[in-house]
Amino acid sequence: MSAIFNKRCIMCHSEVTGASKGLRLDDYDAVLAGGERGGVLAPRNAAGSELIRRLRGESIPRTPFLSRPLPDDQIALIESWIIAGMPHESRARQSCDFPFEFTLCGQISVEQKP
Ligand code: HEC
Repeated sequence: MSAIFNKRCIMCHSEVTGASKGLRLDDYDAVLAGGERGGVLAPRNAAGSELIRRLRGESIPRTPFLSRPLPDDQIALIESWIIAGMPHESRARQSCDFPFEFTLCGQISVEQKP
C-alpha cells in the first residue's frame, strides 16, 4: 500500500509536504488515524471507506486532487487491503528519504495477496 501512497499521494499528504485536510499517508498510524474530519478507512468495509469513495469519485472532490485518477487495479488493491483489515506492512518505508529518494521510496513494495 505504501508503494501506491508514496507514488501518488504523499506529495500532498505527508509530514514533509503538508497534509491536505490533516490527512497524512506517509505513516501507518497516521493513515489509520485519518484527517481532521476523522478516519478515512472503515475496517473491512472498503465501500464504506471515505478514502475509497474519494478515489472512485463517489465522494468529492475526487483525489488524487487535480491529477489523473488511480487505475482501477490499484484501487482494487487498496480495497483488498481494507477488507483484510489494513494489515501492517512490516518492510514499509523504514528508510524512506522522501522527497529525495522518492522513486526508491515508491519501490518499497507491498506483499500482494490475491
Ligand atoms: C495534488 C495533491 C493531492 C494528491 C496527489 C492527493 N490528494 Fe488527497 N486530497 C487533497 C486535497 C487538497 C484534499 C482536500 C479536498 C477537500 O475535501 O477539500 C484531499 C482529500 C483527501 C481525502 C479526504 C480526507 C477527509 O478527511 O475527508 C482522502 C481520503 C484523500 N485525499 C486520499 C488521497 C489518496 C489515497 C491519494 C493518493 C492515491 C491522494 N489523496 C492524493 C490533495 C491531494
